[in-house]
Amino acid sequence: MTQNLTFPLIDETVEEETTTPIQTPKRVVRHGTPSNDLVLSAHLDGNDTVFPKILELYVKHGSTVADVTYGEGVFWRNIQPDLYDLKPTDIKTGIDFRSLPYKDAEIDCVVLDPPYMHSPGGSAHQSHQAFEKYYANNRLAGQTTSKYHDAVLDLYIQAGTEAHRVLRDRGVFIVKCQDEVCANRQRFTHVEIINAYEDMGFIAEDLFVVVRKNRPGVSRMIKQVHARKNHSYFLVFWKRGQDRGKWEPPQ
Ligand SMILES: C[S@@+](CC[C@H](N)C(=O)[O-])C[C@H]1O[C@@H](n2cnc3c(N)ncnc32)[C@H](O)[C@@H]1O
Repeated sequence: MTQNLTFPLIDETVEEETTTPIQTPKRVVRHGTPSNDLVLSAHLDGNDTVFPKILELYVKHGSTVADVTYGEGVFWRNIQPDLYDLKPTDIKTGIDFRSLPYKDAEIDCVVLDPPYMHSPGGSAHQSHQAFEKYYANNRLAGQTTSKYHDAVLDLYIQAGTEAHRVLRDRGVFIVKCQDEVCANRQRFTHVEIINAYEDMGFIAEDLFVVVRKNRPGVSRMIKQVHARKNHSYFLVFWKRGQDRGKWEPPQ
């Protein structure tokens, strides 16, 4: 869609090709058309609207996509079934993302959306049945010897190691996560995950912010200490091969 634009257009290729700013004049890119029909980084919308946009931007049609925490399949609600070769698995259907039934380097894209909160244990969350059915935070219990937030992080790291094994070089890894405050300490999960995955051989290429449409509340408020989180992230990584290179969009 081409409309009256009220903001400057930035062409990334101009910036990238300017190596010696004093001697080399900026190259003016003349191809392309003005557009504001762009995939944006922040969305006041649901996962089922944001996820298809990320796939469209990063994953070629026809690719083999292993969604290893398929759950209720919410991510796929607005995606035509024949666009990708989807392999949906979940621990609920017997496949643990730490031990996937795929050969090394046979997958083009892995999607990961594990329980993102530490489980308070006991019957916590069980009273919120719809919440627990979807996020399955209590499924964290027993999967790792770490506790609380470290248990969350452990699972992301173990899942990342297995994703790295099954992905081909330059394969895409899409990861959903949310930061959390644990024992009154701020834990920026998305930063911890990026650091851990970069050490493993992934390149962090993009970050999408998903903002909740409804307003969260608490039943008993004493004194607010940190901002109440109403956003989560989709992080996009790719598996670095022999050379680091740059990300090449799907053709
Ligand atoms: C937030 S939900 C995923 C929702 C899903 N993305 C959707 O669109 O419906 C988290 C999922 O992770 C699954 N899970 C937890 N631990 C797992 C593991 N070790 N291996 C595979 N799946 C796991 C849970 O069963 C749950 O379905």
